[in-house]
Amino acid sequence: MKVNITETVLRDANQSLIATRMPFSDFEPILEVMDQAGYHSLECWGGATFDSCLRYLDEDPWERLRKIKSKVKNTKLQMLLRGQNILGYKHYPDDVVRLFVAHAAKNGIDIFRIFDALNDFRNIEVALDEVKKQGAHAQGSICYTISPIHNIEKYVELGKQLEKMGVDSICIKDMAGILSPQVAYDLIKALKASVKVPIILHTHSTTGLGPITYMKAVEAGCDGIDTAISSFSGGTSQPATESMNYALKEMGYETSLNEKVLKEINDFFKPIKSQYVSSGQLDPFVMGTETDALVYQVPGGMLSNLIAQLKAQNALDKLDEVLVETPNVRKDLGYPPLVTPMSQMVGVQAVSNVLAGERYKNVSKEIKAYFKGEYGRTPGEVNPELQKSVLGDEKPLTVRYADTLEPLFEKTKKELGSMARSDEDVLSYIAFPQIAEKFFKNREAKETKTVSYTITRK
Ligand code: CO
Repeated sequence: MKVNITETVLRDANQSLIATRMPFSDFEPILEVMDQAGYHSLECWGGATFDSCLRYLDEDPWERLRKIKSKVKNTKLQMLLRGQNILGYKHYPDDVVRLFVAHAAKNGIDIFRIFDALNDFRNIEVALDEVKKQGAHAQGSICYTISPIHNIEKYVELGKQLEKMGVDSICIKDMAGILSPQVAYDLIKALKASVKVPIILHTHSTTGLGPITYMKAVEAGCDGIDTAISSFSGGTSQPATESMNYALKEMGYETSLNEKVLKEINDFFKPIKSQYVSSGQLDPFVMGTETDALVYQVPGGMLSNLIAQLKAQNALDKLDEVLVETPNVRKDLGYPPLVTPMSQMVGVQAVSNVLAGERYKNVSKEIKAYFKGEYGRTPGEVNPELQKSVLGDEKPLTVRYADTLEPLFEKTKKELGSMARSDEDVLSYIAFPQIAEKFFKNREAKETKTVSYTITRK
């Protein structure tokens, strides 16, 4: 039996370990080698990479994608897309979602992994449809979480819904690394018995369960797993590619990975990791095994964000209290899975509840929008009194939020005028207006400098 391996070093490992700060120049020299490793796909775009390129790295994310594509000719390129949120933190109108997908496909993405933080599939429908129209691979995701209202039957139901929607494969997305080996086995078995499309499992090593969970999932018939090259594996990142490959092959599974090439890739990334450690970008904390997550169900990325938030407010000693408050906030919100943007929203609210010394003294506008239904249907019942006090006289929505939004692309394109040089620029601006504008201005300034320099030299 074949197990497909997706390498995550360029996206999820990068995001989970070093807050997505890896510039293109750091990994450019190894791309052609990575293309020879035999990976099923390279997860290299989407998630937080887009935001990070513009915000911190002064890189055009679209150009990054095109450059990766020019070097990776055999291996499929994969991205993570937040459904109606695309790569931002709010819902966008359908015209923007469609154009974003179309341009991502045109610039090189082969596999779109699409999820909605609340598993409200009305929020991934348009993206899925456009991926199919573009002739790319549409992978629908189910965000895995543990709560009194989530069980295997519910996940199987979601899997059937995805298949009906026409997905090419289904990903079980365990962003917190809390899917345990036995539950993974039962879940994959149940899904394999109910749907025909391939099942991919995505987990993290956060709690230390990751590799064991993968083995049990594969035993249950899982068709693919996500791993990170060993120097960027473990902790809040994925289990190591080489170790999983070794164990799987020993057990008689096929992976199509080439060990020699994997070693070359790891030898390349090792010193890069050391640089991030010495610069302080890689906090050794995230490399450890954090079994508290099994209790608090806080994903790795969220945990490091909570720590950063508390550090910034000189309140790191409140971490334990915040970790206790987090599941309480989650319950009030109807048990949303803790994935972007829910993880941020729940985290910020939990921190605020603890630091203010009073629960819900301050409520973010995102939480208000959530109670209004702007993020979609909540998995369980929200706290009705809290909802009432947050919304006041406003009534919650009954339709899909995007149905209330006006088309945005053409209007924005007109407004931007010559500042946007391409439709991709317009999409960057729609996703992150301020930082995209700053990026465009910097780009302009840099070019003017280069031109005048060239002229002076002549
Ligand atoms: Co992940």
